[in-house]
Amino acid sequence: MAHKLLLLPGDGIGPEIMAQAVKILNWLRDTRGLKLEMEEELVGGASLAVHNHPIRDEVIAKAKEVDAVLFGSVGDPKWKDVPFDRRPEVAILKLRKDLNLYANLRPAQLFDPLLSASALKPDVVRGLDLMIVRETVGGIYFGEPRGIKTLPDGSRVGINTEVYTTSEIERVARVAFELARLRQGRVCSVEKCNVMESGLLWKEVVTDLHQRDYKDVELSHMLADNCAMQLVRAPRQFDVIVTGNLFGDLLSDLASMLTGSLGMLPSATLGSVNENGKRAALYEPIHGSAPDIAGKNIANPLAQILSLAMLLRYSLKRLEDAALIELAVSKVLESGLRTADIATDGVKAVSTEEMGEAVLKTLAKLA
Ligand code: IPM
Ligand code: MG
Repeated sequence: MAHKLLLLPGDGIGPEIMAQAVKILNWLRDTRGLKLEMEEELVGGASLAVHNHPIRDEVIAKAKEVDAVLFGSVGDPKWKDVPFDRRPEVAILKLRKDLNLYANLRPAQLFDPLLSASALKPDVVRGLDLMIVRETVGGIYFGEPRGIKTLPDGSRVGINTEVYTTSEIERVARVAFELARLRQGRVCSVEKCNVMESGLLWKEVVTDLHQRDYKDVELSHMLADNCAMQLVRAPRQFDVIVTGNLFGDLLSDLASMLTGSLGMLPSATLGSVNENGKRAALYEPIHGSAPDIAGKNIANPLAQILSLAMLLRYSLKRLEDAALIELAVSKVLESGLRTADIATDGVKAVSTEEMGEAVLKTLAKLA
């Protein structure tokens, strides 16, 4: 049976970097016996321009039906004045919500050749390999009440609400504990229980679950602001970090710069397993659409390519292909090739396409 994939390149640099991942998919199909059925759809600003909506119901339906979604990025300043519920960003938020993709895995791993591209000293980041598990269908992104309201006196208030239920916390914590078992066996749970009730409940639920089912894993707790500081001071103290939607958004951007560039980091967002044993899943780079460099063929395609590797590992169970891609990426970096975002002084940067081609050539050599 062929694996069904839905490709959603989106806006900005999305289409350019997706094209590089597609080359690799085609190569896997042609030379490694990977049976594929691929479909592509518009999302974000690209969909707004044609269909007047950031994501059509048909696209959501397709996303539910396939084995995995490979997503590029959404966001385009052209649409900054449309109402919130029609912004390009709605595409990814609705996909997460409608497919119930609640656990966003954001690894921050430093490739040795990029040691000097990190904003931190080599001694602080050498060998860094941490995983942020970010909750993605709850918290302040979706909590009610929300909106901008006008008070009787004419002044306006902007409202968003942080809401977490016990089951929402427990299921994402479970993902973190399970992952830790396959890694270094340590989970750090992050909230702000000193000021937020939702954080207090978060801490209690994670602690209970740990006591019940995961005593073999080491659990620690940290306030989110301290975690931001610790990630810069001594990032290697972390193995798996589990946290809510908003803190996870911030901390994963922060963690990405430890590895040299936001352009390097992939992510996987997983839902629950359905009755057919299939787990809804979406894979995307953690960076955005980068409109300032879109269309210039200079964006780094590696986060998209590494997202494809995660897709192969977690959804298609093609572990060898996933490892091959990751090895090819590290070989290409070792050979000195750099896109502009990771090029250090004096190094001539290559284009998006050149980087994609280099990964492809290296794959052919390794296979
Ligand atoms: C991310 C992005 C999204 C988020 C945006 C595009 C809605 O920043 O995936 O980290 O805030 O979740
Ligand atoms: Mg973000």
